[in-house]
Amino acid sequence: MARTTVIANWKMHGTQAEALALARGVRRLVGNRFPAVEVVLAPPFTSLETVRRALRGSRLHLSAQNLHWQPQGAFTGEVGADMLGDAGCSHVIVGHSERRRLFGETDRDVGRKLAAALEASLKPVLCIGETLQERRAGRMRRILSAQLSGALKGVSKSVNEILTVAYEPVWAIGTGKNATPAQAAEAHGWIRRGLARRLGEAPAREIPILYGGSVTPHNAPELAAVAEVDGVLVGGASLDPRSFAAIVSAFAANDTPRTEDA
Ligand code: PGA
Repeated sequence: MARTTVIANWKMHGTQAEALALARGVRRLVGNRFPAVEVVLAPPFTSLETVRRALRGSRLHLSAQNLHWQPQGAFTGEVGADMLGDAGCSHVIVGHSERRRLFGETDRDVGRKLAAALEASLKPVLCIGETLQERRAGRMRRILSAQLSGALKGVSKSVNEILTVAYEPVWAIGTGKNATPAQAAEAHGWIRRGLARRLGEAPAREIPILYGGSVTPHNAPELAAVAEVDGVLVGGASLDPRSFAAIVSAFAANDTPRTEDA
């Protein structure tokens, strides 16, 4: 059974003082109150250390938002997987659509990053999702499959123990237009089948498939009620500790048997 997981992606927001206040707020409101939910915070690189200290001794996990596939070298502006582990990260987001769209990351790059994260024992959160144009052209399934293949090429079958996948339709990110429960269920079902084809049925069932895109405290309960949705990756609403805590709570409330075990 996939672990219920809720991840905050703070993107490029906040000074260290703001990150500290936000992390403390989440710790106060979420803390250890929802043991059935794995809660992860992904601040910008500059606030990793500040947030690491703020979370020390709690059940909350620390994630980076990106990494480079090389461990070190002349790659100005980049950060390698071991460096993130050293900074206290347990997780790293890989292939977010903003990285793909604004910074030209290809499926091949995403695959290399995923492999580098695994090599360094960081838990990758692989983001995949179609654009509105692709959805309208009936290409959603093909796009999701291609993104999965690119990312998982050459990855060992035991990746199920540490991989998380986030379905983030590009048209839903930061737009206030979230996928309906039916749309999320369809896409997640397709992704689960894709994982099963590549990794086997049983391992695929253990991989959390999160939904991301305009998740709010308002729509979280209906998304949490979808058996195929194992959690969420939250952008905008994660910048307010109360909103984020309400979303975690919605998933904790729904932590009855999920996915195929339902
Ligand atoms: P959003 O972002 O919640 O602001 O739509 C989600 C994401 O990009 O992970």
